[in-house]
Amino acid sequence: MISRFYNPVDTRFGWGSLEQLGSLTEQQTVALVTFPEARALGLVERIQALLGERLVYVIEDVQPNPDVAELRRTYERFWQQAGSCDTVIAVGGGSAIDTAKALIVGTEGGSFDELLALLATGKPFVPARCKRLIAAPTTAGTGSEVTPWATIWDTEQQKKYSLHLECTWPSVALIDPQLMMTVPASVTVSTGLDALSHALEAIWNRNANALSDTFAISAIEDILECLPQLQHNLGSRELRSRMALAALKAGMAFSNTKTALAHSISYEMTLRHGVPHGIACSFTLPLVLGLAWGQDAERDRTLQRVFGSDLARAQARLRAFLHSLSVKTEFADYGVNAEQAQTLLDAASKGARGQNFIGSLTAPTVP
Ligand SMILES: NC(=O)c1ccc[n+]([C@@H]2O[C@H](COP(=O)([O-])OP(=O)(O)OC[C@H]3O[C@@H](n4cnc5c(N)ncnc54)[C@H](O)[C@@H]3O)[C@@H](O)[C@H]2O)c1
Repeated sequence: MISRFYNPVDTRFGWGSLEQLGSLTEQQTVALVTFPEARALGLVERIQALLGERLVYVIEDVQPNPDVAELRRTYERFWQQAGSCDTVIAVGGGSAIDTAKALIVGTEGGSFDELLALLATGKPFVPARCKRLIAAPTTAGTGSEVTPWATIWDTEQQKKYSLHLECTWPSVALIDPQLMMTVPASVTVSTGLDALSHALEAIWNRNANALSDTFAISAIEDILECLPQLQHNLGSRELRSRMALAALKAGMAFSNTKTALAHSISYEMTLRHGVPHGIACSFTLPLVLGLAWGQDAERDRTLQRVFGSDLARAQARLRAFLHSLSVKTEFADYGVNAEQAQTLLDAASKGARGQNFIGSLTAPTVP
C-alpha cells in the first residue's frame, strides 16, 4: 500500500519562535486575534513591539468555543474595519485560531450569514476572498495550527459547523512552548487530552496510514508520560516543550486522517451537557479502544505498539491514566444514563467523524 501525507503548513517549533512574527510579516498589515487574558499576560504588548505600525487591528475578546452569536459581530466588524489587512495572526488556543480561520474567509457581501449559509450546505465552496493566516498556539492541544478545520458552534440551535477550505490551512504555524507557560492546570489537562484523543483517533481511523501512524504513536507515548507530570509541575519548561511537541505531532497525524468516533461523541457531550472539549473527546477513549480492537489486523498492530497485546490491560491503563488526571470515564459520571448513552453512541457512529472509525458498536469490550 502506498501512504500519502499532505500538510502545506510552514511549521516552526521551538522556544522563542514567536519572535519570527516580525520577519514573517514584513511589508504587510496585520490583524491580531487573541484570548482575553493575553493583554494582562503582556502578550498583546509583546506582539505590538514585534510588529510596530504593521499591527492595524486587535481582537482580544475571543471566548472559548467560538459561537455563531459572537462570531457574527466579530466577523462583520472585522471586515468593515480591517477588511484591507493582509494577514491575520491568531495567538491563542483552538478558540482563537478557529475564530481567525472563520474571519479570513471573506463573503461576497461581507456578511457572516452568507458564510453560515455556505457552511450549512456541508459542501466545499470557493470564497470570494481569503486572507493569509499565521497561527501561534498558546495551548498544547487542538493542533488547529496545522489543520484546515475550524469548529464553529451554535449553542442556541445545538449544532456545530465545520469550516474546511484549502485556504483555511494556516500559511505558517509558530509553536512556541514559552506561550504555554501560563496555561492553568485544568486547561493544561483538558487540552493535553484533546491531543491524546487526536492521536488515538488518527490510528483507529479508515484514513490512517504508516505516515500518520508515525506521528500518532510518538504523540501518544509522550502524552502518557508527560501529562501526569506536567499537571503537578506547570512551571517546567521541559515538560511544557514536550507537550507542545506532542500536541503538534498529534495535530499532524489527524491533519491527514480527521478524527473519529470519540470526537463524534464529544460534540453532543459539549453541546448538550456542557463538558469541555478536551474532556468530552477523551473520557470515552477506553471504551472506543475496545470497539476498535480486533477490527483490522494492521490497526491492531499499531495500537499494540503502544499498549501491548492485552486489551483488558490496555483499557485499564488508559482508564487509570485518565483517573490520575481526575477525569471520570463513564457516561453516568456526566449525567448520561445507559439508554441515553446508547442513543448517543448510535448517532455518533453515523455522524461524519463517526464514519471514519474502523470499529463497530457491537465489538466486544472488556469491563
Ligand atoms: N480546528 C481544529 O482542528 C480543532 C481541533 C480541536 C479542537 N478545536 C476547537 O478548539 C477549541 C478549544 O481550544 P482549546 O482547547 O485550545 O481552548 P481555548 O482556546 O478555548 O482556551 C481555553 C481557555 O484557556 C485560556 N488560555 C488560552 N491560552 C492561554 C494561556 N497561554 N495562558 C492562560 N490562559 C490561556 C483561554 O482564554 C480560555 O479561557 C474548541 O472550540 C474546539 O472545538 C479545533
